[in-house]
Amino acid sequence: MRDMTKPAALPVGQNPNFDRHHKRFPTTAWMRTEAPRHVPRFAFEYGDTGAGNDVGIAHNWSAFDNIKIVPRYGVMPTLPPVEVKLFGTRYAAPIGIAPMGGPSLVWPGADLLMAKAAQRARIPYTLSVAGGATIEDAAAAAPDVFWLQLYRFWHDEHKIGFDLMRRAKAAGVKVLTLTLDVPVRTTRSRETYAGLAGEFRPNLRMLYEMTVRPRWLLALLRNGYPRFATISEYAPPGAGTNEIIKFARANMGGAFSWEEVKRYRDAWKGPMTVKGILHPKDAEKAVALGIDGIWLSNHGGRQIEALTPSIDCLPAIVAAVGKKATILLDSGIRSGQDVMRALALGADAAFAGKSFLWAVAAIGDEGPDQLIDLYIDELRASLGQIGAHSPAEARKAKILHPGAVKF
Ligand SMILES: Cc1cc2nc3c(=O)[nH]c(=O)nc-3n(C[C@H](O)[C@H](O)[C@H](O)COP(=O)(O)O)c2cc1C
Repeated sequence: MRDMTKPAALPVGQNPNFDRHHKRFPTTAWMRTEAPRHVPRFAFEYGDTGAGNDVGIAHNWSAFDNIKIVPRYGVMPTLPPVEVKLFGTRYAAPIGIAPMGGPSLVWPGADLLMAKAAQRARIPYTLSVAGGATIEDAAAAAPDVFWLQLYRFWHDEHKIGFDLMRRAKAAGVKVLTLTLDVPVRTTRSRETYAGLAGEFRPNLRMLYEMTVRPRWLLALLRNGYPRFATISEYAPPGAGTNEIIKFARANMGGAFSWEEVKRYRDAWKGPMTVKGILHPKDAEKAVALGIDGIWLSNHGGRQIEALTPSIDCLPAIVAAVGKKATILLDSGIRSGQDVMRALALGADAAFAGKSFLWAVAAIGDEGPDQLIDLYIDELRASLGQIGAHSPAEARKAKILHPGAVKF
């Protein structure tokens, strides 16, 4: 683990190949450009697409770009430490990996690569219930930093959901997250066009795309076909990928109602967050039910394009519940500067999704380690530049935020 007691000189990679990768990929934009050259096109499109014409993604990015900070100088001769405590656990930085279903389609084995990198760096890793690793394998890979996200399995009075909570407790999950922002199934155009809507049946074009990506094929040989590992044990015995997809579609769906959130809250004894919140009234409702953390998100622009960027809703939610709940945020994070912007506006931590997929696609197995290091280094440099001695001190900064939503 990196030594947080010493001021660090950039770059501070715990990954021994940090400098080499950094020269090729100074920011996540380079990773995104390189990613499609190493994975089949359908795999890149799956991980990178937004809803519709990607306008929601563009809005998320421009919302961050439009937030400016007036620095104070003469106060910070070194780069500040960025450790934080979230729900009673210390992490190396206020940066986490957001839950993603199917990352192993983008890069075979990606779920566990991200989990192991998060454990090495000691930042939160969130496994999606639609992920490609079992709860038990992810817990073994990331024992100190393991969070789990659940979608709504409503059949049989939530029998599967409650069994997932039982497994989560046995596996030592630190924080349980319920996703609320998928009330309906929407389509993502690039995913549809790439041939991935519905069942996974590689057509000739997809087979060709695989054969011209040897690095990805090798990762596939090492790790096997991507599967919904966490939920596969509830599917009929011997079910293959498509039977599991069918099973998931039939049993999973809709967003948790507040009554259901309350049932899960009462049953889960550890910290719990709700993910996908954008309205302060919803945040208040969740806190009133005993939820410990509000996770702002518009699903990275993957649901519909017209949703507000989460960062624009942050000030109002912090004003409403910031003193009563831990505030987390994702959707649009592409740099440590973005993390600093979120902290300055009152978030306790920020999470990233797509950029971890760009990193693993562009760099391979070392991608997640590289991106964590990059985000931490950029965050320290950004905080140092504005004169903040800690993540919490970023809140004292003078901020220009023209997009902030007034409720
Ligand atoms: C490929 C992919 C799959 C995702 N699957 C899930 C999921 O299973 N559960 C969930 O709560 N969010 C899911 N998300 C949303 C992320 O958790 C997160 O909200 C989003 O990616 C953050 O935005 P960013 O991609 O701009 O960083 C997914 C995102 C991506 C890119």
